[in-house]
Amino acid sequence: MAAYEELPDMDSEEFKRWQSLLEQRTGVWLAENRKSFLLTNLAQRMRERGFESYQSYFDSLDNGVGSALEWASLVDLLTVHETRFFRDMASMDLVRNHIQKLINKAVNQQQEGPVNAQVWSVGCSTGEEVYSLAMLASDVDTSALQKQGRNFYFGLTGVDISFPALAQAREAIYHQRKLYSVPPEMLDTYFDSLADGYYQVRNQLRHRTCFVQANVKELESSPKQLYDVIYCQNVLIYFQNERREKIVEQFISRLSPGGLLVLGPGELNNVSHPLIEKVSTKHCQAYLRAGG
Ligand SMILES: C[S@@+](CC[C@H](N)C(=O)[O-])C[C@H]1O[C@@H](n2cnc3c(N)ncnc32)[C@H](O)[C@@H]1O
Repeated sequence: MAAYEELPDMDSEEFKRWQSLLEQRTGVWLAENRKSFLLTNLAQRMRERGFESYQSYFDSLDNGVGSALEWASLVDLLTVHETRFFRDMASMDLVRNHIQKLINKAVNQQQEGPVNAQVWSVGCSTGEEVYSLAMLASDVDTSALQKQGRNFYFGLTGVDISFPALAQAREAIYHQRKLYSVPPEMLDTYFDSLADGYYQVRNQLRHRTCFVQANVKELESSPKQLYDVIYCQNVLIYFQNERREKIVEQFISRLSPGGLLVLGPGELNNVSHPLIEKVSTKHCQAYLRAGG
């Protein structure tokens, strides 16, 4: 196929087939007004793979040894990966304060042993969200804890459906154009300068992180680990409401007692669940699990 212009238009039946394939496999719902986004990206992939009709490409995704690999490449094209460091500062502040409270509480109660905080970033894209949260967790005040001879450990797990996005996240190399929202002192402390305007997150932070490929739509069947903070922004906005509710229920079941769930402003409004209580803040949407 020589050029995208040569691809025929897609009729509404065919569009619905693609729409439901993507929804069933990822949860992402392509509204009718995103048809041109679908066509542009299908054209790119079909050209690369030598397919001349939507139907033959569609069929190829459902059979044959390579179909899973092909699907992984297509999903990367059909999902939006836009992100940036410290994207939603009000929500990030809430996380920092929550972690500080965990430490202060352990100090006041003079519990024994280290304090441990586990953070889960769902739909982490290329890693900026995870490293922003890691910088904030590194910056909490642990002096009182240290006076008691105790350590603070934290870990962050980023999950995403896109393998290429996760590969970038693990590499942790960003051009300076992407670092404008990182405060200069954090850039000095947590990044190494490489050649040609690139920076890499230092190992002291990278060693706290782990990036895992997973589909949030399939959380029911994945192991249940508990997190002190679950952070999910700009992911569920692409899903239909009923799906969002089921996924948020899964998040709640993975919150430690007293854990904090932070959602993006439009992710799912007014979550109501017996185990959680809304945090009263003006600028973000967050919930605390009972029992902390
Ligand atoms: C717009 S980015 C948001 C990145 C980051 N959370 C932020 O707010 O800056 C959405 C991410 O969700 C991921 N995503 C979409 N559907 C997913 C699914 N079913 N399971 C896991 N990740 C998914 C995409 O691959 C993409 O990287």
